[in-house]
Amino acid sequence: AYPNLAPHPPMGWNNWSYYMCDLNEKIVLDNARALVQTGLARKGYRTVTLDDCWMSRQRDTRGRLVADRTKFPHGMAHLGQQLHRMGLNFGIYTDVGTLTCEKFPGSLGHFQQDAEQFARWKVDYVKADGCNVPVTPGHSKEAAFRDLYGQMSRALRATGRPMTFSVSAPAYFQYDGDSVWHRVIDWSSELGNLWRGGRDVALQKSTPAVKWSSIVYNFRYNSRLAAFQRPGRWNDPDFLLAGATGLTRHEMQSQMSLWAMMAAPLISSTDLGKLPAAAREVLGNERVIAVDQDPLSVQGRVVTQDDGSAVLSKPLKNGDRAIALFNSGGTPRTLSVSARAAGLPEAGSYRLHDLVTGRRTQSAGNIVAREVPPHATVLYRVTPG
Ligand code: GLA
Repeated sequence: AYPNLAPHPPMGWNNWSYYMCDLNEKIVLDNARALVQTGLARKGYRTVTLDDCWMSRQRDTRGRLVADRTKFPHGMAHLGQQLHRMGLNFGIYTDVGTLTCEKFPGSLGHFQQDAEQFARWKVDYVKADGCNVPVTPGHSKEAAFRDLYGQMSRALRATGRPMTFSVSAPAYFQYDGDSVWHRVIDWSSELGNLWRGGRDVALQKSTPAVKWSSIVYNFRYNSRLAAFQRPGRWNDPDFLLAGATGLTRHEMQSQMSLWAMMAAPLISSTDLGKLPAAAREVLGNERVIAVDQDPLSVQGRVVTQDDGSAVLSKPLKNGDRAIALFNSGGTPRTLSVSARAAGLPEAGSYRLHDLVTGRRTQSAGNIVAREVPPHATVLYRVTPG
């Protein structure tokens, strides 16, 4: 298997959902500085990843990828150096096909060359997308993806530089039937450290309703993938949208809490220079981050759910359980779970620590229950006794 370079779910920032192709050195470094200044870097958000469109439309005469000179006048080695000076990690994007999703050069046919280029630039994290993968007649789409992601994975390893590897393959099989995408996740988890499933979360330019439904969709999808997660191998339901225009505090908080319950990568994609106070609090809540990063490294599971709600439980290293009560519907609802169903040992009564408000209470008997506002999630750390 690919080296275990991500013992905890990766955390950081990516430009895509907010800026799309409108990225450049200033935007990247401004956001990097904001990570440091807001204290988010200190809390773990340290990997700054450039997504699609950082490169020039053509490789150079020796076949090497080159940064777009207008967007990145000082080049990639310089950018990496600036990020490292701030104590941050440098992440970059490529695609295993002939072209990226936005039609920039893909790594197909250049795997070793590109991996070595990334290593020379001192890249720490590589996201490899799966647009424009050619499928030869008589061969399966799965075989094509598996071969190309395998080549990328081996090329990264062969450089000797530790680069966390994010595999997008499963996202390209989500409509191909359970047995297929189950297999794709299996080999993705051997080839890399994390892998995308579900759809892209909505872009900044989308309506608030579309943003919210993309969060709910990816939550529902990713929550079914708990069986594939292992320590150091993470399901990635895509970016955190806190800070995106139109999301309410409850909605941002729900995404953050649900992603933490699922031990998902916490990758913010917004303009951190303009982060509203509510979004900063959501992203920076260390009690919630600790649930995500908990050393037991287990993705929480759905205990019960219906069309408008879900209750999740996640075992934690110190014997506590994190329990989330998620109301995805439009009216307040009382949600509850028995301690036994949530996997807690018999204790008669439990201490509840509300990780969003910080309030500590006691359960009434063996039931954890709360009224949950629309689109909100109550997140408890539960200790027997
Ligand atoms: C795909 C990916 C996104 C982003 C874009 C870039 O849609 O899923 O995360 O990388 O490509 O073009």
